[in-house]
Amino acid sequence: MGLTWRPDRAYLTGLAVAGTRKPVSTRAMHTLPLAQRDDLGNGYYVLWFDSPAPVAASAGQFTMVRSAEWGVAPLLPRPMSLLSGGSRPSMLIKVVGEGTRRMAEDPMGQPYNLLAPLGHAWTPLPEGHRPVLVAGGVGVAPLVYLAEELSAAPDALAPISLYGGRTTRDLPLAERLEACGELAVTTEDGSRGRAGRVTLLLDELLAKAAGSGDKLAVYTCGPHGMMRAVAERAEAAGVWCRASLEAPMGCGYGVCLGCPVAKRDGSYFYTCVDGPCVDAKQVDWTKEVF
Ligand SMILES: Cc1cc2nc3c(=O)[nH]c(=O)nc-3n(C[C@H](O)[C@H](O)[C@H](O)COP(=O)(O)OP(=O)(O)OC[C@H]3O[C@@H](n4cnc5c(N)ncnc54)[C@H](O)[C@@H]3O)c2cc1C
Ligand code: FES
Repeated sequence: MGLTWRPDRAYLTGLAVAGTRKPVSTRAMHTLPLAQRDDLGNGYYVLWFDSPAPVAASAGQFTMVRSAEWGVAPLLPRPMSLLSGGSRPSMLIKVVGEGTRRMAEDPMGQPYNLLAPLGHAWTPLPEGHRPVLVAGGVGVAPLVYLAEELSAAPDALAPISLYGGRTTRDLPLAERLEACGELAVTTEDGSRGRAGRVTLLLDELLAKAAGSGDKLAVYTCGPHGMMRAVAERAEAAGVWCRASLEAPMGCGYGVCLGCPVAKRDGSYFYTCVDGPCVDAKQVDWTKEVF
């Protein structure tokens, strides 16, 4: 599937203003040895690094990552959500191509370059709202980070996590969500939780909240189609919703303009600097990214 955007007027305006965008985070290049890799099965791994200079990240931010030992292929670093920051940065990966295959196989101690933290973190939880985290696939990573931040915050209500996967083997880190609050899961084959898509759980929760008057704040990350369905339901219910966007990335900090996602007003988010975490109402979800 190709990109659907074209270099129209809004894109060219984006080129003109790119140089004027302010940096959104205190990014730094961290060269760190691969310290630990947890095999979660079915092509999912968590990579851990030890960082003498802490990575000053918040949930929702990401890193551009590549090993110095990769030579020229793959040439570009890969964008990965941070699963944690500080002195023990980590990320959840799913093997889909050459870069992630190498991450799954490189020996311990191999040096990696992490440009981090990048992008906008999740917007803070509005006061008095219950956080609802809707995750699909590896989109769970920035939501686990958020759930762990929320459970450490003294005043935040415990999150309700709704997590969908194809099978029970596609729900990595479910137990970390569960440790932070309530968790309900769906699988398409019915091998764990309810059979079907995660939006069926969201529909039930939104209907319940409408009856009780509870104020919900939805955070979502996962495949585009899932986030679109979540955003549409939240908007129809008048519920606050933030989404973490995905787009192909070359640089990760606003220079290559390779990461546009269409907005409803006809302009674009440049995902690395305007996102990845954005107000779901501003996204034109009808336009596919990949
Ligand atoms: C902000 C952001 C955060 C991300 N966080 C994570 C994460 O926490 N864990 C994780 O595993 N992945 C994450 N991704 C996706 C990850 O960057 C890609 O899976 C990775 O770049 C693939 O590299 P590769 O060399 O293995 O595959 P490639 O050889 O580059 O691609 C293999 C296949 O995957 C497709 N692909 C590549 N990138 C993406 C993408 N971003 N979304 C959908 N399909 C893609 C390609 O079109 C191709 O079909 C994130 C992407 C972004 C933009
Ligand atoms: S501008 Fe280069 S990845 Fe966003």
